[in-house]
Amino acid sequence: MRSGAVTAILVLSTAAVADESLNGPPRPLSDEDAKAGKPLYLRECSACHGDRGDGAGPAAAFLDPKPRNFTKRIFKLRTTESGQQPTTADLLGTVERGIPGSAMPAFRFLPEEERRRIVAYVLRLADLADDPEPKPIADPGVPPTPTPASLTRGKAVYAEMGCASCHGTGGRGDGDSAKDLKDDDGNHIPVRDFTGGQFRGGGDRIDLYYRFVTGMDGSPMPSFAQSIDGADRWALVDYVMSLKVVPPAVPLPKDPIKAGRMVTAKYSCRGCHVLDDGKGGEVGPDLRVSGQKLGSDWVRTFLADPRGYGKIYPWRVWRMPHLGLEGEEVQVLARYLAAMGKRADGPAKTPDVATFPAARIEEGKSLFTLRCTECHALGKVIETPLAKQQGPDLIRVAGRVDYDWAKKWILDPKKIDPKTKMTVPGITPDQIDSVRMFVWKSAVDANSER
Ligand code: HEC
Ligand code: HEC
Ligand code: HEC
Ligand code: HEC
Repeated sequence: MRSGAVTAILVLSTAAVADESLNGPPRPLSDEDAKAGKPLYLRECSACHGDRGDGAGPAAAFLDPKPRNFTKRIFKLRTTESGQQPTTADLLGTVERGIPGSAMPAFRFLPEEERRRIVAYVLRLADLADDPEPKPIADPGVPPTPTPASLTRGKAVYAEMGCASCHGTGGRGDGDSAKDLKDDDGNHIPVRDFTGGQFRGGGDRIDLYYRFVTGMDGSPMPSFAQSIDGADRWALVDYVMSLKVVPPAVPLPKDPIKAGRMVTAKYSCRGCHVLDDGKGGEVGPDLRVSGQKLGSDWVRTFLADPRGYGKIYPWRVWRMPHLGLEGEEVQVLARYLAAMGKRADGPAKTPDVATFPAARIEEGKSLFTLRCTECHALGKVIETPLAKQQGPDLIRVAGRVDYDWAKKWILDPKKIDPKTKMTVPGITPDQIDSVRMFVWKSAVDANSER
């Protein structure tokens, strides 16, 4: 048994050496990288791509295009020939840049080392980690400066090559063959509209060059490596870029729900959150509940920098990605949450804790120890081992959670959110008041100590 395994390893490594001479060196990522990448992948990617990389994460049902199934080993964004695997740098670039126009966020906010480890793990999931590093196509060199003549040439190449049959004469993605195109999984796939100026693989000249020279495997977008060469490639790139139309600025609707729906659609929030119409994924909390409980200031600060706050819900595997929202979008989303929660766009109600009688705070402390420490910590005031913490550390409630809402919540959490794990059976309204006083007193004191 044992010696068999050793022989197998020997055979494998000889094969790897043989491959190296033919296909280049191994990928510049190690087994250690992949091991360290697994928990990072589960935290950052599995909500969409699934624990096993099969594209079936809990957010997938609400997304179009669907998250990629890595186990099929088909990648669109490559610098390698059609049908080949992506280089390690291709994958690192995709993770760093995200995929504009799809739900996939840019992971620039993660340290480079973490992105490398995640990519090592993705290669494992795709069973590609032991294959040699693929070779990119010939270096495209430095692009020539576009001229009126090269643009005219680009337009002619666009016509000759039949790009218009799918992308349309004006590049609107409305060519004759556009309607019934399907990707390899049989899903309808829209042709890129060049007037939008947004590209999955990046919008630089070099990015567009690679897209039509190497093709987008798994989609109907073919490779034109054999049919277009030399200066014509750059002329075509510049012609495609010239089709961009800057749309007139349309102000977002005044209605907070309508405006919120537009911004949440842009960022695919629905993949991870239930939205105002009751539909969406359960990767993060139901935003109808968050809308009721959260102060708008807290929401604004959080959305502008979700990673700055640290983990909110200890029991969730996933974290909120940093989406790089614009200032105006943060405002719209804060108003959207408040409207969903049927509350004013304002701070969470925080009581004047100085007026709380000492005896009530004491009573609250005993109740907290008895009824709440099963699931909650209260900073350094009442420590609970992390493994036991199912709910948020309540030392951070002041300014985040509305004081009045907390009373309704503790009385009957399942009435507010049928999916919550929180229950405190039999607690009386009077006991809730004491426990709230103790929690908010501790939280306000902790804030002022910071
Ligand atoms: C919110 C959902 C979401 C998250 C989170 C997400 N992705 Fe994606 N990812 C997608 C979607 C959707 C696509 C398919 C886009 C398309 O086909 O146009 C995709 C495609 C990809 C691809 C294929 C690129 C190609 O060349 O075809 C890679 C690689 C990838 N994701 C890696 C990752 C990694 C690594 C992470 C975590 C760091 C991650 N994704 C997190 C949604 C997500
Ligand atoms: C058979 C139909 C078809 C033809 C012909 C075709 N395309 Fe495409 N093209 C597509 C589809 C479909 C997509 C979207 C693929 C996706 O989202 O995965 C696309 C996407 C693209 C993109 C977007 C890349 C990105 O990063 O988002 C570029 C650029 C492009 N095509 C250029 C061209 C050029 C230039 C030609 C002609 C030389 C051409 N295409 C011919 C179907 C076609
Ligand atoms: C890839 C999944 C994902 C996407 C996409 C996503 N979120 Fe989240 N969001 C989460 C997770 C997970 C949490 C909980 C984080 C934690 O426990 O630390 C969260 C937390 C939040 C919270 C705090 C809620 C609370 O009750 O404390 C708000 C608000 C929020 N997200 C809004 C949004 C909005 C708005 C969008 C779109 C612009 C969005 N999210 C997109 C996963 C996501
Ligand atoms: C069985 C576990 C459990 C018990 C016991 C429990 N909670 Fe919770 N609590 C949770 C969970 C889990 C959440 C987060 C909401 C969710 O994920 O559904 C939560 C959320 C909260 C919140 C909102 C905090 C925030 O930042 O979003 C407050 C306030 C709260 N609980 C107070 C209490 C108090 C006070 C007690 C004791 C009287 C208590 N809970 C007992 C599990 C519990």
